[in-house]
Amino acid sequence: MKILVTGGLGFIGSHTCVELAKEDNEVIIVDNLYNSKEEVLEKIEKISGKKFKLYKYDLKDKEKIKKVFEEEKNIEAVIHFAGYKAVGESVKKPLMYYSNNIITTTNLLEIMHEYNVKKFVFSSSATVYGEQETPKYVETMKRGETTSPYGTTKAMIEKILEDLYFSDNSWNISILRYFNPVGAHESGLIGEEPNGIPNNLMPYIMKVASGKLETLSIFGNDYPTPDGTGVRDYIHVVDLAKGHVQALKKMKQGLKVYNLGSGKGVSVLELVTTFEKVNNIKLNYKIAQRRPGDLPEYFADSQKALKELDWKTEKTIEDICRDAWNYEKNNA
Ligand code: NAD
Ligand code: UD1
Repeated sequence: MKILVTGGLGFIGSHTCVELAKEDNEVIIVDNLYNSKEEVLEKIEKISGKKFKLYKYDLKDKEKIKKVFEEEKNIEAVIHFAGYKAVGESVKKPLMYYSNNIITTTNLLEIMHEYNVKKFVFSSSATVYGEQETPKYVETMKRGETTSPYGTTKAMIEKILEDLYFSDNSWNISILRYFNPVGAHESGLIGEEPNGIPNNLMPYIMKVASGKLETLSIFGNDYPTPDGTGVRDYIHVVDLAKGHVQALKKMKQGLKVYNLGSGKGVSVLELVTTFEKVNNIKLNYKIAQRRPGDLPEYFADSQKALKELDWKTEKTIEDICRDAWNYEKNNA
């Protein structure tokens, strides 16, 4: 298959390009390098032994997207990763998020329609569930109240895709709701590189382990969870990447929504102690106040992806901790 991957040099996109190339797909990347580096291209070529064509274009520029479809002729499917993803920043700069995330998507869909390319995979997030009555989130639940403009862009795009499919059911659309993507490629060549001081747990652990930040604050130990700390469903980015390959392989006409998660909740303390054990490193941490807006616990019901995509996570929390640290050491 000839596949266009937007945001293909980013954290999840780069790992997905590698997995797609492994299955002999031809992969075209569009990325404006807003949150990635061009050297990632060489790295994914090195890992996979395949070549990728890169268009350094901004997807907000519709004419540029058109140029890609014109030049490439027979693109069969699009996986759309490109977008902004920092929750805190989206609260401060909502227009920047609405503009980049929504406009890139509608531009892309309009051009796809024009070129009669109707297979679309979208990077959504578990954040669209908001708070539910039970911590195990299943696709049949209604979307909840989002807690940030970032989350709202994901919910809005899901709605746009539903409306599009309703208007023209020749589309094949897979909405993938990621839980907490972490880890890195086992080669140590590609991984997650947040700018500045990280907000998310795993990147913060990396900075404390490497001595760049002093202490990890564990946000609350009085939640109604087994050890009192927050529980999430951490998914290794390579498993997540493989989920995209399966979503394309098993794609049927229609609009489908899938959770991509392990189905298992892991607490902050469990993640910290696993990291210490696997890597033989002592992490400095302290218990701090709860972070406003955090939910105590949620994880994926991953049965639908297993049944319909023949996909489940294979890597463990130990793999996640080892691979993330391996990447950090190689790139610090
Ligand atoms: P990332 O920032 O590492 O990758 C996104 C890529 O898109 C970057 O390389 C960036 O340069 C590019 N990009 C952004 N705006 C663009 C534009 N206008 N034109 C062209 N390229 C543009 O993010 P990621 O972690 O790989 O996430 C990929 C997708 O998955 C995002 O849509 C994100 O919201 C979603 N998602 C991520 C997580 C997570 O925890 N990482 C969780 C749920 C959903
Ligand atoms: C957040 C976003 C989600 C996004 C995801 C990216 C919200 C509501 N959700 O999820 O949309 O897709 O990041 O992975 O913002 N923690 C600490 N100390 C830290 C950092 C985090 O104890 O320094 C705890 C949090 O309280 C939480 C867990 O670690 O219990 C995971 O936090 P984080 O990695 O930020 O992800 P989420 O908040 O689950």
